[in-house]
Amino acid sequence: MNYILAIESSCDDTSAAIIADCQVLSNVTATQVVHESYGGVVPELASREHIQKILPVVKAALDKAGIQKEQLSAIAVTKGPGLLGSLIVGVTFAKSFAQGLNIPIIEVQHMHAHVLANFAEDPKPTFPFICLTVSGGHTQLVLAQSPLKMKILGQTIDDAAGEAFDKSGKLMGLPYPAGPHIDKLARMGEVKFEFSASKITGLDFSFSGLKTSFLYFLRDQMKLDDQFIEREKNNLCASIQENICHTLITKLVLAAKENNINNLALAGGVSANSRLRTLFKDMCERENYRGYIPHISFCTDNAGMIGIAAWFKYLQKEFTDLSIAPEPRMQF
Ligand code: KG4
Ligand code: ZN
Repeated sequence: MNYILAIESSCDDTSAAIIADCQVLSNVTATQVVHESYGGVVPELASREHIQKILPVVKAALDKAGIQKEQLSAIAVTKGPGLLGSLIVGVTFAKSFAQGLNIPIIEVQHMHAHVLANFAEDPKPTFPFICLTVSGGHTQLVLAQSPLKMKILGQTIDDAAGEAFDKSGKLMGLPYPAGPHIDKLARMGEVKFEFSASKITGLDFSFSGLKTSFLYFLRDQMKLDDQFIEREKNNLCASIQENICHTLITKLVLAAKENNINNLALAGGVSANSRLRTLFKDMCERENYRGYIPHISFCTDNAGMIGIAAWFKYLQKEFTDLSIAPEPRMQF
């Protein structure tokens, strides 16, 4: 059996996983809570936390999979995109470990890995498929032609969908990251308020206008009633969530129609959103598409998806050497 240890440290999650034959045997993630009080990720704090967490997380992944480090065939690591200091920790660890064990390194593009997270469990998509990858830093419509061949059909020209959730939540006083809080509160509210929908045509996205219109709406309402946000929080969450999710699904359908593709998938942290998942499933049923969504544990940043992406490269013997360096702005 060929075992791969995968490492993910591109932002604020330190994660390690063991993969064998495209099966994720363990997937251990330490999420950094230190950023919560700052309302966003503080890069310097993130790198320090990665340094503290990486060894225990790798050890936990090995233990959980029940294998020894000597059994590993390769080490996979996120090369980019991401925060430079955070990437350095993962890449340096992978280099040292690989050198110590005399095994190859496999470099992984973080956004490719989000798409390939759809192969973590059955049923797996068949190629070609279009994946809507929605995270804190990216919003992309990706045409996946094969595990190693992907093309961006459209992407955000400003804020990512996750940022739209997080920034809207911040305006309502919710902790960072606000996405999961909005999801939870929205379930107790109803879609009561309308905000201007994105006017950008084609397959690109824009969320900065929504954020501004939400900001002005809250400011005007708070002038009339300083308890407005507190009183209407659940309805505000439901309304902003509906707006973002509708935009995402509408663009995904457009991409499917324009490219004549029947297999669709979701990926990235925002695909953990319960309303987005429901809208996606309903749309696929209504329009006769085959839809795939990873389990929530494979949606947010995790090393399991890095391992799956690496597995496809392992089969092609696509290895890198010790000259590997992080690329914060890695090209797609
Ligand atoms: O993919 P991810 O874990 O990290 C990045 O690569 O950015 O995505 C994080 C983003 C954050 O913006 C977070 O608020 C959002 O995913 N998110 C959610 C939910 N869970 C995570 N957004 C909406 N609803 C959720 N349930
Ligand atoms: Zn991510």
